[in-house]
Amino acid sequence: MEDDVVLSAPLFVNMDPEAARALIASMSPIEVSRGDVLFHEGERADRLFVITSGKIKLGRRSSDGRENLLSVQGPGEMFGELSLFDPGPRTATATVVADARLLELAHSALIAWLETNPTVALHLLKALAHRLRRTNEALADLVFSDIPGRVAKALLDLATRFGETVDEGIRVAHDLTQEELAQLVGASRETVNKALADFAARGWVRREGRAVVLLDVDRLERRAR
Ligand code: CMP
Repeated sequence: MEDDVVLSAPLFVNMDPEAARALIASMSPIEVSRGDVLFHEGERADRLFVITSGKIKLGRRSSDGRENLLSVQGPGEMFGELSLFDPGPRTATATVVADARLLELAHSALIAWLETNPTVALHLLKALAHRLRRTNEALADLVFSDIPGRVAKALLDLATRFGETVDEGIRVAHDLTQEELAQLVGASRETVNKALADFAARGWVRREGRAVVLLDVDRLERRAR
């Protein structure tokens, strides 16, 4: 099952299964716990990671100490590759949000693979283009959308990654604290809380600690537009 998840990562999609297995065998598995930092923004980089299970947040810190989350990634996703394609320091800090199993691959090993498997480069380009598309959308939302709209959008986005269908709707075990959720939306904890309390009062969501049940996806989608 976990193998299937790893094989769905952009690095392995459409790769000959034998080649994929060989590449996976050349990667080192690691286990990390909530709160562990895999690397810091600004550090020198020499490896990338594929997530087998768990969740990783990618965040940046402003000079006055405020934090912003660029993304929360889950099984099948990859991070730590930007500093390879655009050589330079890490563009974000990677921190474990939910205990995770990862596969590590040295940048030098990936370069060697790309030379012999050029189609893999196409999949990596596709993953990068997808990320740029999401980032553009997040940037436009910061300018054009109000905070409740951004909260609705963040919940729907987390649902596509971590949601499971339950009788009442979609349960999203995001594992984020209220502070982290606010950092993902790019607003204060108080304002994000107020939006969530309003959604709960309208019957659109139910909050359950570090999870939320989306009870009315249609309304949330309309609010996110
Ligand atoms: P790297 O710069 O090596 O280390 C930080 C990683 O965070 C980066 O590679 C990407 O994998 C990831 N990352 C950076 N910016 C974004 C973004 N806007 N959306 C999703 N992931 C990102």
